Amino acid sequence: MPQDNQPTGLENLLHETRTFPPSDAFAAQANAQPELYERAAADHLGFWAEQAKELVTWKTPFTQTLDWSDAPVARWFADGTLNAAYNAVDRHVVEGRGDRVALQFEGEPGDTRTVTYAELQREVSRAANVLSSLGVAKGDRVVIYLPMLVESVVAMLACARIGAPHSVVFGGFSADALRSRIADAEAKVVITSDGGYRRGSASALKPAVDEAIAPREGAPASSIEHVLVVRRTGQDVAWTPGRDIWWHEALEAADVQHTPVWVDAEHPLFILYTSGTTGKPKGILHTTGGYLTQAAYTHKYVFDLKADTDVYWCTADIGWVTGHTYVVYGPLVNGATQVIYEGTPDSPHQGRWWEIVEKYKVSILYTAPTAIRTCMKWGDEIPGKYDLTSLRVLGSVGEPINPEAWMWYRRVIGGDKAPIVDTWWQTETGAIMISPLPGVTATKPGSAQTPLPGIIADVVDDDANPVPDGGGGYLVLTQPWPAMLRGIWGDLERFKDTYWSRFKGIYFAGDGAKKDEDGDIWLLGRVDDVMNVSGHRLSTTEIESALVSHEMVAEAAVVGAADELTGQSVVAFVILRSSFAKDADPEAVQALLRNHVAKEIGPIAKPRRILVVSELPKTRSGKIMRRLLRDVAENRVVGDASTLADSSVMALISSGLAAPA
Ligand code: WTA
Repeated sequence: MPQDNQPTGLENLLHETRTFPPSDAFAAQANAQPELYERAAADHLGFWAEQAKELVTWKTPFTQTLDWSDAPVARWFADGTLNAAYNAVDRHVVEGRGDRVALQFEGEPGDTRTVTYAELQREVSRAANVLSSLGVAKGDRVVIYLPMLVESVVAMLACARIGAPHSVVFGGFSADALRSRIADAEAKVVITSDGGYRRGSASALKPAVDEAIAPREGAPASSIEHVLVVRRTGQDVAWTPGRDIWWHEALEAADVQHTPVWVDAEHPLFILYTSGTTGKPKGILHTTGGYLTQAAYTHKYVFDLKADTDVYWCTADIGWVTGHTYVVYGPLVNGATQVIYEGTPDSPHQGRWWEIVEKYKVSILYTAPTAIRTCMKWGDEIPGKYDLTSLRVLGSVGEPINPEAWMWYRRVIGGDKAPIVDTWWQTETGAIMISPLPGVTATKPGSAQTPLPGIIADVVDDDANPVPDGGGGYLVLTQPWPAMLRGIWGDLERFKDTYWSRFKGIYFAGDGAKKDEDGDIWLLGRVDDVMNVSGHRLSTTEIESALVSHEMVAEAAVVGAADELTGQSVVAFVILRSSFAKDADPEAVQALLRNHVAKEIGPIAKPRRILVVSELPKTRSGKIMRRLLRDVAENRVVGDASTLADSSVMALISSGLAAPA
């Protein structure tokens, strides 16, 4: 039997020899210097205490950095007090930066709104007064169900200002998903809107809220007392007098003065639900002081933020953790000027993002591999029409980025000079954990490379032994970090069981990883996406990467389908680049690509079947739903597709495959 804990056949990823050292000019001006690693290594806790004091304003200074006596529940900076909204907004005004633009909003229809830090302070204070007047007190939960609007940021900060943990539910989730999240958190108030603009039309949001809190037989009455409704589209809405309140009317009537509620560092800042592969969603709990510290620290160093001159744009929705840490808390605590955009990258045309970059002279762009690959599929000529020379740092997050997509991002978007930071982290980690540092690290296409200064990560085998360079296994975090989750809302046991029981006393991330000969870390996808074919472990990512490296292929998704003989067999779904798609013969494509994978990785990795499709099923956060593809691959009825961004995709795939190759 082969060694089962070693993902095999990673040669095509690990023979990546291209590296891109920082230019002297970039290195000279960079926030990060090599000494940062040395300082953190010399005094782990002292390093974090320094960051907390330098980057965050405390009402009462902390005297203790870490209390790990109740592990795995950490307490960071526990005797300090602070307020997250004060840090994100007020202190910039107090320190004379009130006129700086905080948010540059671009609506999908093309409407814009510019909000300075001073204006943001007034809006957040008003909203905090409104929430208090509705009976929301410190510790009460508020659900936010909104599109990407200025009000979404204001709503989150207003909650933080009064010490009420927010639970943002992505606007694309269904009424049922919203209902279960409201119930789990026993929230008092929902903040929503009439609707939002998506792909050129107004799409309603409030009906889902009405449905989520309507009485349902056999279920206890909803905990929701009030619904605050932002008017975005002006569409008709059903109204429950007494319960429903217009946001704009309430804010207009509210006082602009508000004193922030100072909270302990360990006071809950937010809950964010994330789905496991099965079971009910987990409410990941984050607290205030440690989270803010690491959000600000990572944002400053990983993106090399110069708050006076940069224009930062993270394309994530506030419904995901990336929107929490890298749209709201990180950038605002650092006093950044940022763009927020309501819509999709192709509304009204496929150059919309690049048009926004040109218009606002965006200098730091943070987005996801799936978006990069989509733009790659649309063709170089689209970004080619715009002036992207303002871009100086490019970020990637959410899934492993294929070397070819990385190279495209660097060449076409970054003009062959902007450093790319491939950032690995999770909802649970709260902030970036593994990433190159621009100006210090020589970057490698496809690798997240190095734990940040202050973060201790490793790759271990089944028995928790660190693997040598060149080896593969599981990614773990061996030391507590400030932004780590403090639990799963209402379920301490599940928290311990999910993350801390696989390896005693260390955090199990659920990702497969490999260390290359330089000790750099390569993420290989979730361990639940790792396939086992005839006793060999194969990474879905690796095969996808091999497929995408063929000139015909724009995008690929690979699943392991159950197989009586070999355990699993590899099934690939590919989207061809448009120039090849027209007259491709499926049989010939399949033969060609199977051989290509065999050549890139080895015969063991050859997909049993390769199916040419026109779309892939993706969640609204852009993750490919392999579970649904596995259903197709195993000739099953396709399972629950309700969290897909576009629910018609599965019908399209299934109908296109009526006669499997
Ligand atoms: C994956 C998103 C490879 C990983 C911030 C992780 C990545 C999961 C990367 C968390 C990356 C995120 N390279 N894989 N740079 N970033 N992942 O909670 O599998 O939505 O466990 O947080 O995304 O997803 P989540």
